Amino acid sequence: MNLPDLKKAKIRSDKPSVYKIANDVKDNCFKGQKFYLKTYGCQMNVHDSEQIKAILENLGLEETEVMEEALVIVLNTCAIRENAHDKVFGYLGRIKHLKKEHPEIIVALGGCMSQEESVVEEILKRHPYINIVFGTHNIHELGNLILNNHNKQDIEVYSEEGCVYEGVNYHRDSKITAWVNIMYGCDKFCTYCIVPYTRGKERSRKMEEIIKEVTLLKEEGYQEVTLLGQNVNAYGNDLNLGYSFVTLLEEVAKTGIHRIRFVTSHPWNFTPEMIDIISKYDNIMPYIHLPLQSGSDRILKLMGRRYTKDEYLDLINKLKNKIKDVTITTDIIVGFPNESEQDFLDTLDVVNKVKYDGAYTFIYSPREGTPASKMKDNVTLEEKEKRLQRLNEKINQYSKESNEKLVGKVEEVLILGISEKDCNKVYGYTRGMKLVNVLAPKDVIGKIINVLITDAKSFSLDGIQK
Ligand code: 5AD
Ligand code: SF4
Repeated sequence: MNLPDLKKAKIRSDKPSVYKIANDVKDNCFKGQKFYLKTYGCQMNVHDSEQIKAILENLGLEETEVMEEALVIVLNTCAIRENAHDKVFGYLGRIKHLKKEHPEIIVALGGCMSQEESVVEEILKRHPYINIVFGTHNIHELGNLILNNHNKQDIEVYSEEGCVYEGVNYHRDSKITAWVNIMYGCDKFCTYCIVPYTRGKERSRKMEEIIKEVTLLKEEGYQEVTLLGQNVNAYGNDLNLGYSFVTLLEEVAKTGIHRIRFVTSHPWNFTPEMIDIISKYDNIMPYIHLPLQSGSDRILKLMGRRYTKDEYLDLINKLKNKIKDVTITTDIIVGFPNESEQDFLDTLDVVNKVKYDGAYTFIYSPREGTPASKMKDNVTLEEKEKRLQRLNEKINQYSKESNEKLVGKVEEVLILGISEKDCNKVYGYTRGMKLVNVLAPKDVIGKIINVLITDAKSFSLDGIQK
């Protein structure tokens, strides 16, 4: 049994990152049986679930969409806000019920929630039917944990800085677009955020491994890769090998893969060289997700974000001036402790100036163990909800306006599948990451086609193949 420890999870040493090979157990003992996997949270979790799927398939298990059919149930959880917790604990009720009728079911809980002390304490006290709790640092052990479980409760969570695992197998959800981890963890310790505790220190994969993976994906016919990290522009800092995210982006661009995206960027170390590289290569998509969090200098300081409103706006201007047709999206938190009406108006002011193409907006949620969770807060939930609503009205207005600008234009769209809205249409994304439902034959799935944009809504576009 290894329990999470938030104090340990906070430690950052100067030790170089440790590189290891992930060896999945191969054992067909579950052949003919099924697994059910439910994923919460960010792209990092979605990609981790592709690893979890490969591990479960190596045990002979086959995926099912129906939880009641499964012998193995895995929840890959998120800890970023309290409502993510609530969803998981709500779902556990269904699993508890199922397990009463079928005690042979193996239930495993992984992801960021497992890294939290309070969650594991609650599991120990109130959820004895959960067989396995594994963390973000030992996903590769899941196969062995399942094989050796024998219907007892096993908690194996490590609160460490973390290693870099190579040779990881993935069952990728798409044959067209692929996630590629370039680094793990986060050292920024924004005062509201739990991620540096749940994901460990910033550690980069070696560039040659990333290029090998992208090259292979290109050979397999993938059209697009998204480079993943909590803070992609910190890539390489821990390696001391003389290369940075700029070097990596250029090398990935040179592989010739058709489309390259990256998430998430931090405004703090977004260098002019990065902007130059993005504008230089046609296969690096002109789409930047640049979290603002707040437009108030006072709140930004309390958040530990390391930039001011003016510095952020200056960066946005550079991006807009230098990258042709760039689209910019963001994350914004309202209701950080003691956020005043004026602080909130500063956020709205940035939104009015940047006119984002889209944004994810959140009400601040205190996370146990983070510095912000200890700050007194004089703002009511009702006020926070009102601010979120005022913010969302603005965000939706600008999103629609930016979509309307594309009507009548021809956009390159990578087609990913049949449209959910209309089975006679296909859907895909523009270079600027705008969702388009397209009137076109199904054989364009997997291809980049020219689309005439005919209509704009707040969150999507309509078009016809040119
Ligand atoms: N409360 C609300 N939103 C948060 N985020 C991170 N931590 C919190 C929190 N405690 C948001 C940030 C981040 C996004 C992934 O989630 O906006 O960029
Ligand atoms: Fe969280 Fe800040 Fe790190 Fe993003 S940069 S993961 S918000 S601590």
